[in-house]
Amino acid sequence: MTGTKKSIHGEWSSRFAFILAATGSAVGLGNIWKFPYITGENGGGAFVIVYLLCVAVIGIPIMIAETMMGRRARQCPINALETLTEEAGAHKNWHYLGWLGVIAGFLILSYYSVIAGWALAYVVKAFTGSFSGESAAQISGLFSDLQASPGQQIFWHTVFMVATMSVVARGVQGGLEKAVRLLMPSLFVLLILLVAYAMTTGAYMQGLEFLFKPDFSKMTGDGVLTAMGHAFFTLSLGMGAIMVYGSYLPKGISIAKTSILIAGADTLVALLAGVAIFPIVFANGLEASAGPGLIFQTLPIAFGNMTGGWLFGVLFFVLLVFAAISSAISLIEPAVAWVVENYDVDRKQASIYMGVGTWALGLGTVFSESFFEKIDYLTANLMLPLGGLGIALFAGRVMLQKHTQAELALDNEIEYTAWKFLVSYVTPVAVFLVFLHVLGVFG
Ligand code: PFF
Repeated sequence: MTGTKKSIHGEWSSRFAFILAATGSAVGLGNIWKFPYITGENGGGAFVIVYLLCVAVIGIPIMIAETMMGRRARQCPINALETLTEEAGAHKNWHYLGWLGVIAGFLILSYYSVIAGWALAYVVKAFTGSFSGESAAQISGLFSDLQASPGQQIFWHTVFMVATMSVVARGVQGGLEKAVRLLMPSLFVLLILLVAYAMTTGAYMQGLEFLFKPDFSKMTGDGVLTAMGHAFFTLSLGMGAIMVYGSYLPKGISIAKTSILIAGADTLVALLAGVAIFPIVFANGLEASAGPGLIFQTLPIAFGNMTGGWLFGVLFFVLLVFAAISSAISLIEPAVAWVVENYDVDRKQASIYMGVGTWALGLGTVFSESFFEKIDYLTANLMLPLGGLGIALFAGRVMLQKHTQAELALDNEIEYTAWKFLVSYVTPVAVFLVFLHVLGVFG
């Protein structure tokens, strides 16, 4: 039925455009800001291994499932779930899965924008030479000053929201696609430069050991949940972001191959960020478990010490902001597409309504760290894995095999069987076990 249908929102111009957009969604604050600090809080190597395992065993199969569902239905996630539920003759309650995702995206964007606002504030700090010649303690002081100023945070949060919503208002090709073409490769180059700097700090090996030498005694039940939740968060899974991007994907493009590529690129960026940051942490006697301020307290030390560091600092934070925008647009796109599909409202108006709502909720994060912590825990650790579990079960067990097989069009039967086995059994069991682990069922 839906095989030749096109989305009313348009389509990506090519396979490459989809890869860029989906990588743009995946690579963001999650890789450069969140991955290092949660790795630091959870003791390093063992956490990294659990995270990598989750990306491979849970993340990639779900990314394939989400893209496939989006392309088959060619609608926003809420409507896609309705269409696909009907097509499979399944129970109506599956509709809620779409809603869960839209709400999660809305909640995540509220704080995501505040953190991206910090990065914007740091563009100005880098430009005005605030980092040069400063000690680690002085650099930490800059961050505390920003934390203590709700006015500044609200200002930058507003700038970021306006920028994001104006890209979303322009739609699939005009806005989303253009924004990511140049930015992703440039960010990658700058990260390599930072890794090169980290090699000169003298604590390079200590940094690598922290990241890659596992000490499983440091892993808690909550650490395992955080690692799994982060696999969803960093790959933009479990809430329909990749599904909505999949709905703009032209026919005839291999979903499995592109998913593996996107997950690989995302993982590489996170690991590079870790390799750049931890040597600086150890060389300057900082705490690996410093929390959400970690990159803002470490990378400026590098910029303050290199020749031409102010320029690299400006470039880095500008690119980080763009990486955040290309993720932020995918956080709100499911909600905006839903409004456009269901009401007599154009894309621009829909973007404004959603933007204002998210902005207001973001004030909670500006004024209260525990508000941020609660929303982060609720979304990344609970809502995304639950959404992902639902998506895996839906794609693996509810949708008819002839439909999933036709949509994925894999080269051979073995690949299809492997994917189906992973989403039907391995992924759901893994998510379920991690939830039990947190509840303390295993002692
Ligand atoms: N993947 C993004 C990051 O790592 O920064 C965040 C994100 C985007 C999460 C879109 C979820 C999502 F649907």
